[in-house]
Amino acid sequence: MRIFSGIQPTGRKHLGNYIGAITQYVDGQDRGEAIYCIVDLHATGVPYQPAGLREAVYDTAATLLAAGLDPERCIFFRQGDVHEHTELCWLLCSVTAWGDLNRMHQFKEKAGAERELVSASLFFYPVLQAADVLAYRAHDVPVGDDQRQHVELMRDIAQRFNARFGELLVVPEHRIPEVGARIMDLQFPERKMSTTGGSEQGTVLVLDEPAAVSRKFRSAVTDSGTEVRRSPEKPGVSNLIEILAAVREATPEQVEREFDGSGYGALKQAVAEAVIARLTPVRERYQQLRGDEALLERILADGAEKARAIAAGTLAEVREAMGVGPVRRRG
Ligand code: TYM
Repeated sequence: MRIFSGIQPTGRKHLGNYIGAITQYVDGQDRGEAIYCIVDLHATGVPYQPAGLREAVYDTAATLLAAGLDPERCIFFRQGDVHEHTELCWLLCSVTAWGDLNRMHQFKEKAGAERELVSASLFFYPVLQAADVLAYRAHDVPVGDDQRQHVELMRDIAQRFNARFGELLVVPEHRIPEVGARIMDLQFPERKMSTTGGSEQGTVLVLDEPAAVSRKFRSAVTDSGTEVRRSPEKPGVSNLIEILAAVREATPEQVEREFDGSGYGALKQAVAEAVIARLTPVRERYQQLRGDEALLERILADGAEKARAIAAGTLAEVREAMGVGPVRRRG
């Protein structure tokens, strides 16, 4: 079983990333051959500062290592170091429908009213994401719920490629957790938690100090009722139940039973305590790791070498199947 996932470089990873994706990356190391990359090329599609991008890659690398990625047990690298991703992206464009890209929710959200002005890289973003996964012939893609459509598209692209050029690519499947696939903003629980579209007070960062985490949960929006139970009319309370269940590795039903009759104050306090207990060791390890950029560079460079060894094999076969370059000599 080969597992692949990617994550954007930013120093502001939040609880949604942690619960929806990062904990799954860590578990993936026990399930199979796990490959994870920090997608610096994806981050160039929106306005950014070049020096800031490098820093953000280190921040993200240190966060993921602090959360439990182990370079001895997974391949961990920076996307831009493995040129096969960009080459495969271009080759896969030939089996990607323009109309499909135009229907991507994330493109529509990010482009907003500026549809004509946004960069072409934002439009092609899902093809690069498909290339990330397909280059490794990965079977399993751990992601949060917001990546569902992107994984659907990469499946379509792989199927179309295989139908047109021969069965070379693996059609991957998403692995979306049952609990915590869509953590919502604590202030606006109808919106997903996000550092780009969310509220400051409603977004718990992996690196937040305990006092900040407590404050954010204390001021979390609930409703005028008192019952601790999930329901579409109670998005704030449902979100808190889901967060507590995910962090404790319990079911939402267990949380509902435990807090039956206790009220929202007790629930908020318990969530804050559980999240702090989970994130404190991560923040402490982060502080040790982040100071050593040479070490982070070495880990990413070693990972890139291993990643390249796999991706180069796929690329050679894809190029040959597509008639690009000379006929390959074997043996
Ligand atoms: P990114 O960096 O935005 O998010 C990283 C992971 O966090 C998940 N996530 C959430 N999960 C639960 N609740 C939330 N509120 C929440 N917000 C984010 C995301 O679903 C994601 O799994 N396009 C991808 C990066 C990418 C990628 C790939 C992923 C590039 N290439 C190949 C998988 C495979 C992204 O922007 O993730």
